[in-house]
Amino acid sequence: MNKKQRVQAVATDYEIKNSEKNKLGKSDREFHDWYRFVLSYPPHLVRKYINEFRLTSEDLLLDPFCGTGTTLIEAKLQNIPSIGIEANNFVHLASAVKINWEIDPIALLKHANVISDNALKEFGEQGIFDDPLLNSGEARCLRKLSDEQGKLILKNSISALPLHKSLVLLDQINKYKETSYYKYFAVAFGNSLVYQVSNLRFGPEVGIGKIKKDVNVVSTWFKQMQMICDDIQSSKGKYFAKSESIFSDSRNLKNLLNGRKISAVITSPPYPNEKDYTRTTRLESVLLGFINSKEELRVLKKSLLRSNTRGVYKGDSDDDYVKGFPEIQRIADEIENKRIELGKTSGFERLYHRVTKLYFGGIAKHLIELQSVLKPNAQLAYVVGDQASYLRVMIPTGRLIGEIAESLGYELERIDLFRTRYSTITKTNLNEEVVILRWRG
Ligand SMILES: C[S@@+](CC[C@H](N)C(=O)[O-])C[C@H]1O[C@@H](n2cnc3c(N)ncnc32)[C@H](O)[C@@H]1O
Repeated sequence: MNKKQRVQAVATDYEIKNSEKNKLGKSDREFHDWYRFVLSYPPHLVRKYINEFRLTSEDLLLDPFCGTGTTLIEAKLQNIPSIGIEANNFVHLASAVKINWEIDPIALLKHANVISDNALKEFGEQGIFDDPLLNSGEARCLRKLSDEQGKLILKNSISALPLHKSLVLLDQINKYKETSYYKYFAVAFGNSLVYQVSNLRFGPEVGIGKIKKDVNVVSTWFKQMQMICDDIQSSKGKYFAKSESIFSDSRNLKNLLNGRKISAVITSPPYPNEKDYTRTTRLESVLLGFINSKEELRVLKKSLLRSNTRGVYKGDSDDDYVKGFPEIQRIADEIENKRIELGKTSGFERLYHRVTKLYFGGIAKHLIELQSVLKPNAQLAYVVGDQASYLRVMIPTGRLIGEIAESLGYELERIDLFRTRYSTITKTNLNEEVVILRWRG
């Protein structure tokens, strides 16, 4: 492929309006909606490449950055065996639960009912109601997070009364920890906590939105459980392909698949845009006990691709993998020179050029590891976005990943345009693209 073709993005899905392209369609809510990132890619995009790659039940599809499991669910619904890899522990749980439809939904809902009744009983003993309209504003002795937990979450993530109610509910959920029901309760808890109970707002970075002094906690969680049980019920009597989500780091995936070979990859790795996925999922990760200390947070961050300066550590060396790439070195130099010119001296700003090299180095390391598990002629789709988060220096993510892949022996077939996003920083449209590769073996 020549350079002109390489950078020429081919517009796809003309029939879907640009602003609608990343949205979850109404008919796609089943399973996907159990827990989702605001910016997860949409099921219709995965379907497009499943169809284009002509995948069948004889294939094995991999999503090495599977997040909340969009690829895995679509593959399962279309009877294509799949494997996902995810390094963030709560997100891994969400993806693993969303593809596990084996459980008895009637028993699951019965136990959810018990949890709900017990939590409401405890509220009653404390003179508290789940319904905010029934609560008087009187001062009460409310449960709190530990100091360590408090330091890990964003300030004002959740108001005092909703937090108290959530902790009471969580105690009841935790009684099921040793059962096969627990993980469904936990994912439903994470979803209702973040999207309805907390004060968090996603736009796309996580921040604090409207402060909700009181909110229904138990009934919100129970409604989520009803939806999960309905979805599982609808799957009964039908055959779906196997799917599995592995908790691991995709930069070290060589030995994860026990000899299984991959015929296609459809994935969306993080973008080099300062987005910290551990911040996006911090509240539910802390409450559910996935992150209990700064040290545990550090371990988690170290297992992720370096896509933001909060996740850069001394001794990081993924940049070694792109030492021979003049274009990446040039972009990193441009960022650093601009920082000096603008007199920006904060610790984070000083890391902008470094995280750029670490990011592409991590992608290169992942692509090298991947080779050993790919079948000859495997087809790959990497959904990534161009970025200008570092002092407005343009990072053409898709084009650079394509060039790295080519240098490692992959064929760059083309780069499709998925959609454009308006950047308030550069006042221009940035492309979100799909890099299509082939591994001849
Ligand atoms: C853009 S999101 C993927 C979203 C996904 N397509 C979905 O439908 O939810 C990227 C994901 O990669 C994960 N991740 C980052 N570094 C990773 C690594 N080294 N190995 C595995 N997963 C990683 C992040 O935790 C995040 O969930």
